[in-house]
Amino acid sequence: MRLFLSLLKNAHPKIEYYSRYSPSPLSIKQFLDFGRDNACEKTSYVFLRKELPVRLANTMREVNLLPDKLLSQPSVRLVQKWYMQSFVELLDYENRKPEDPHTLNDFLEVLIEIRNRHNDVVPTMAQGVIEYKEKFGFDPFVSSNIQYFLDRFYTNRISFRMLINQHTLLFGNDTNPAHPKHIGSIDPTCNVAEVVKDAYDTAKMLCEKYYLAAPELKIEEFNMKAPNKPIQVVYVPSHLFHMLFELFKNSMRATVELHENSAEGLPPVKTRVTLGKEDLSVKISDRGGGVPLRKIDRLFNYMYSTAPTPSLEPGAVPLAGFGYGLPISRLYARLESETQPILSVNK
Ligand SMILES: Nc1ncnc2c1ncn2[C@@H]1O[C@H](COP(=O)(O)OP(=O)(O)O)[C@@H](O)[C@H]1O
Ligand SMILES: [Mg+2]
Repeated sequence: MRLFLSLLKNAHPKIEYYSRYSPSPLSIKQFLDFGRDNACEKTSYVFLRKELPVRLANTMREVNLLPDKLLSQPSVRLVQKWYMQSFVELLDYENRKPEDPHTLNDFLEVLIEIRNRHNDVVPTMAQGVIEYKEKFGFDPFVSSNIQYFLDRFYTNRISFRMLINQHTLLFGNDTNPAHPKHIGSIDPTCNVAEVVKDAYDTAKMLCEKYYLAAPELKIEEFNMKAPNKPIQVVYVPSHLFHMLFELFKNSMRATVELHENSAEGLPPVKTRVTLGKEDLSVKISDRGGGVPLRKIDRLFNYMYSTAPTPSLEPGAVPLAGFGYGLPISRLYARLESETQPILSVNK
């Protein structure tokens, strides 16, 4: 503990130092090129030992600009502590030589620890926003401030985790033998309909747990590039899964709430996967009653949900209620592009 405290003292000038650099813009293509051609662990290490502290330091500086009333909420403080601890752990590698095999192994382990430490950042931050809202009510100015901050904060978090995952999957032991063709977390031939079914099945289990019923799935594919062939794209399947899972949960909740007592049963959730000349689109439609136009803008607000606030008990997986399903899915959707520099937020 004492050691950690003395490291903390040292950390503040380092945050200053690293936050002067901008995160490197990275694209899926760069990840693929690096991962395909006999990826070099030392090169990746030398890149990450600077890039990761740069990203953490930039995020920490932005966190510090939040309104004091929000910063003082216990959950937000906890998130800040995680960032600081991870930053300090990474500083340890500033001068450790890549030629020493211990360095590379220790670095791998630290990355996995950091990733695990940050697993619950999103629900914890959401909890902080709820704590704030309960104490101080809704203020449109603060809300738009928080909206802007959280969009950047979560985008940074997604790319930070992707950088860690690429390194640990390429060089660590957690390679998935079921997916030998994956380049780290990227699937060069990601079958979209399969991910749709996976996400639907997972949402269905959750929905059945809450409502004891769930609507069926109907899925259609239109492949303009290769008619009648299954649609495959270069993509990060876990990102696609995340978006679809959130949309299915929403559709299922709306459908069950509206039709729970109807004699005709639950209308299915329809999914249409289309691959055009340039874009992939996945459209999910339900008969859950929709949302009035007047309220559409609110749906992407991190502070908006029509479901009761869920509990934050460990292991509890709520179907809805945190209000960040849609805004975070939109971040993933904006992030993905094969050649654009995607994994950084411009300063
Ligand atoms: N398919 C849908 N049909 C009707 N309302 C929806 C649908 N999807 C989202 N909504 C509305 O948008 C709100 C925000 O959704 P989301 O961001 O996923 O948060 P949460 O599901 O935790 O409430 C929901 O509470 C709901 O009122
Ligand atoms: Mg939701």
